[in-house]
Amino acid sequence: MQTILVANPKGGSGKTTLATNIAGWLAGKRQRVVLEDRDPQQSSAFWLSRRPALFPKVMSADDAQHAKKGEAPAWRVVDSAAGVHGDDLRDAVKAADILLIPVTPSVLDMAATARFLTKIAEYKAVKQGDLSTGLVGMRVDSRTHSSADLDEFMKSTGFPVVAQLRVTQVYVYCARDGASIFDLPRSRAEQDWEQWKPLTRWIARHAPSK
Ligand SMILES: Nc1ncnc2c1ncn2[C@@H]1O[C@H](COP(=O)(O)OP(=O)(O)O)[C@@H](O)[C@H]1O
Ligand SMILES: [Mg+2]
Repeated sequence: MQTILVANPKGGSGKTTLATNIAGWLAGKRQRVVLEDRDPQQSSAFWLSRRPALFPKVMSADDAQHAKKGEAPAWRVVDSAAGVHGDDLRDAVKAADILLIPVTPSVLDMAATARFLTKIAEYKAVKQGDLSTGLVGMRVDSRTHSSADLDEFMKSTGFPVVAQLRVTQVYVYCARDGASIFDLPRSRAEQDWEQWKPLTRWIARHAPSK
């Protein structure tokens, strides 16, 4: 199983948005995927509870536990809690193959992310290159100074900038409706599909075949 951990110590940085859309993308690719919600706020669990039965199936942790032999998930997407640190973070990182860190164009988010990256960089798995780690710019508006600052910040970290996702109500509606952008018709989501291409390719490239 491939484990994708989505983490950032700041609430509101886009963890749930990223995690639910990755799960939706994999499900749409006919991959068996479980979405694990480690946040006491249970936003991913809410999203799952809203997901229409006709959409490609995303398993809950409970579904995965009760899955028949041969139907176990091939992918695990973990939506972590804000403020995750210490042993919880170390254990989550140890169990992950891929770590994605969403960052928004906010000075406070960038400062918190910088501290987080310093901590992450000390972990053996990161030092040895066993954990593929990437940054994703969230709620990016290319017309603003803060988005230019975000770009500069992300490049300065030394971690790859995997994608930049625009600010759009499409993600807000998806969160409400249990959808991912990959469940939407082309007319509504084409621009966002384009922006996700480098991200989905990066995930596919960094998922070790096991
Ligand atoms: N690209 C985006 N455009 C518009 N709104 C977004 C975008 N990404 C996230 N949001 C919204 O920002 C809020 C915080 O995002 P969320 O994914 O819940 O963050 P976290 O899980 O880190 O707390 C949510 O209301 C979400 O719908
Ligand atoms: Mg969340």
